[in-house]
Amino acid sequence: MASKDALKELSSTLSKARILLAADVDASLVSDAEINTLVARLVEMHKADAGLSVATKEEIAAIVDQITKEKAPVPVDVKRKAGFTAAASEIDAYYKITNKERLTTGGSIDDFVDHFKNRLEKIRRILEERRIGASIVQSISATRSYMSGREVTIVGMVTTKISTKKGNIMVVVEDSTAEIKVMFMNGTSHQSKDLFESSKRLVNDEVVAIRGKLSNQFLMANEILWPDVPIKEQKTIKGDIAIAFMSDIHVGSKQFMEKNFEKMLKWLNGEAQSREDRIAGKIKYIIMAGDVADGIGIYPDQEYDLAIHDIYLQYKLLFNFISMIPDYIHVFVMPGNHDAVGRAEPQPALGEEFVKDFKLDNVHIVTNPSYINLHGLDVLAYHGTSLDSIIRAIPDLSYAAPEKAMVEVLKRRHLSPVYGGNVIVPSKEDQLVIDKVPDILHMGHIHKNGIAEYHGVRIVNSGTWQDTTGFQQRSGHIPTPCMLPVYEALAGRFTTIKF
Ligand SMILES: [Fe+2]
Repeated sequence: MASKDALKELSSTLSKARILLAADVDASLVSDAEINTLVARLVEMHKADAGLSVATKEEIAAIVDQITKEKAPVPVDVKRKAGFTAAASEIDAYYKITNKERLTTGGSIDDFVDHFKNRLEKIRRILEERRIGASIVQSISATRSYMSGREVTIVGMVTTKISTKKGNIMVVVEDSTAEIKVMFMNGTSHQSKDLFESSKRLVNDEVVAIRGKLSNQFLMANEILWPDVPIKEQKTIKGDIAIAFMSDIHVGSKQFMEKNFEKMLKWLNGEAQSREDRIAGKIKYIIMAGDVADGIGIYPDQEYDLAIHDIYLQYKLLFNFISMIPDYIHVFVMPGNHDAVGRAEPQPALGEEFVKDFKLDNVHIVTNPSYINLHGLDVLAYHGTSLDSIIRAIPDLSYAAPEKAMVEVLKRRHLSPVYGGNVIVPSKEDQLVIDKVPDILHMGHIHKNGIAEYHGVRIVNSGTWQDTTGFQQRSGHIPTPCMLPVYEALAGRFTTIKF
C-alpha cells in the first residue's frame, strides 16, 4: 500500500471513531504497517474527548516513533548447533587492515589541481614500470618542438572525447604542461578498426599512454596503452580457510530480506546440509563491502521504503545480526553510499556513535576502500559506487555483469576513474589509485553477483540481501539477492551459496 492510501485509510478509520486528522498530517508520516496500531493508540488517547476531536501531527509523529522503537531491532536468536565443529575455529586468525584514512583538503580549485596532478604522476609511474617499449616523452608541451611525422608516446589525462563530423574520434589528452588533440581514424584496415573500437572505451579523467605520429597540432594514434595489471599466477595460500563476501545488506529497508539473512546466519552456525556444511565450517573471514544499512535521506522519498526510520536502530539491528556470527569468524564492516558517513570517498569507517555499544573482538570497522590482508592474500575491498559511471561510459558494459566493469577499473588502476559520478575528496594524494595490485578485488553496489578472473586477480561482486526495489524494477535491473560467494583459499575456488 502506498503511503497516500495509508493516509486515506487512517483518515476514514479514525472518522468512525469521531477523530479528524489535522490538516498538516502528510503521507510521509504514515507507513502502511503501522495503521492498526496507530488507530488503536489514537482512539485510546482521545477516548475521553467529547464529540469530535482532532489528532495532531505531533501526536501522530510521537506514536509512529514509539512504534518504530518497539519494532526494532527484531530479536533473532541464532546459536551454534550442538556437535558442529568448524575447521576454521582451530585456525589462528591472520589479518592486517590497511585503511584509506581520509586526508584533509580545503576543497579549493588548487586542491583539485593537485589531486589530478597526483593521479597523473602515480599512474604515469605505473605506465613507466610496464616498460611499454617506446619511451614516454617527458611532457606534452615537449612534443610542440618536434617535427611533424615523428612517432611519440605521450601520457596524460583524457579530458574530452568527441565524434567528429567525418566519423572519427577526437580525444583531448592533457598533462600539467599542455594538452594535445589525439585522432582515432575510422579506417578500413583491421588494425585501425580495432584501435577505433578501443578508443570508444576511453573515459574522461582516466590516465593513459597513447602512441602515435605527430601531424601538425594533432597526434594520429596508433596504440592505446592502459596502465593495466601485470599477468601473474593466481595466489593460493597454505591455510584451508574460506572468505565469505557480502555487500548491500540494506538493514532498515522494507526490502531487506531478513529471513534469508537469518537462514545464512544459521548456516554459519552449523545448520546446513550436505556439502555446504563443510564450506560453512571453513569460513574464517567475512567482508561486508558497504551499504550495510539503508540509511536515511539517501534519495528522494526514501522514507516510504524504510522499515526503520531511525539510523541508530538500523545499525543496532545490523550489529545484532553480526553478533550471531560465530566468534572465530572475523568480520570487516565497510560503509557504502547508503551508510551514515557522508558520501565523499575515501569514506571513513562508521562513527563511534553507531558502533560503541556493539564492540566485539572479531568485528572490525574499516574504511571504504581498504586493503585487507588475510593469511597473505591481499583483498582490495571497495563499495563500488563508481561502477555506475563506468557502466555508463563504456559501450559494452551493463548492470547484468558488474565483474566486467570491475575489470575495467582494474585496467585503469583507479577505483573511480570518471570524475563527478560519485563524490571524491580532492586531497593532495589521490587515494583511489590502485597502487598495489590485489589478489582479490571485492565490490558490491550493483546488487548483482559476478565472479571473474583477470590477469591472476580474482574479482567478486557480492550482490545484495535486499529484494528488488521499485526503482530497480523501473530501470530494468535484475538483482540477485541472498547469494553468498565464498572463496576457498587453498583450492583457489569460489562457490556461491543461495539462501
Ligand atoms: Fe551502494
